[in-house]
Amino acid sequence: MPNAHPDHPNILLFNHPLIQHKLTVMRDRATSHRPFRALLEQIAGLMVYEVTRTFPSLEVDVESPMERTRGTRVDRSITVCPVLRAGLAMADGVLDMIPDARVGHIGLFRDEKTLKPVTYLSKLPNDLHTGPVILVDPMLATGGSAAAAATMLKDAGALDIRMICLVAAPEGAALMHDAHPDVPIYTAALDRQLNEKGYILPGLGDAGDRLYGTA
Ligand code: PRP
Ligand code: URA
Repeated sequence: MPNAHPDHPNILLFNHPLIQHKLTVMRDRATSHRPFRALLEQIAGLMVYEVTRTFPSLEVDVESPMERTRGTRVDRSITVCPVLRAGLAMADGVLDMIPDARVGHIGLFRDEKTLKPVTYLSKLPNDLHTGPVILVDPMLATGGSAAAAATMLKDAGALDIRMICLVAAPEGAALMHDAHPDVPIYTAALDRQLNEKGYILPGLGDAGDRLYGTA
């Protein structure tokens, strides 16, 4: 189970040894894009187990080879929304666990000078209100991208948004709490601070570049 952070009420921290082990390998500058991508997918798959714990389910009848019995199915359509580019690998990990989930794509990049998010794509289902939405982006730095993404999801009708990230900065956690206090953020780490260029310290560098070998 993730633990609520004492100073950031919107942050739920995963201390699970497997997740922490994988995160440590990802932080290592010597880890190349292929294992980096695989590890991010695996961590997202482990996290989604807890993120979905309170999802509504429905009782159904099922015919086993032996007899009819009762079972449960997840109720309502689930939508996973990656923030491009880095959220894509996390979305794959979530989809491994919830293959029927729909995918809504959000294209954002951070302007290098202003650190403000610039939107270049929004491709979302038009009935987001019908079920939970899992917003995925491994890095929560200033929080500008996550806040913009959550606003886009709400504008598109989302009522129940949960965010999965990997490494968060206190600055991003605080901005999200101000802008979207209703959005819980599940993360493997709350790091120390941002540097003058808006990168997380100790962090893991530029997640998109490390995932796709574009550094
Ligand atoms: C990274 C990351 C987040 C954003 C976080 O994306 O994946 O979307 O930065 O920073 P913020 O909290 O300060 O907004 P980036 O802008 O580098 O785009 P990319 O993944 O396409 O390279
Ligand atoms: N985006 C990243 O990919 N890494 C950071 O440290 C901050 C923003």
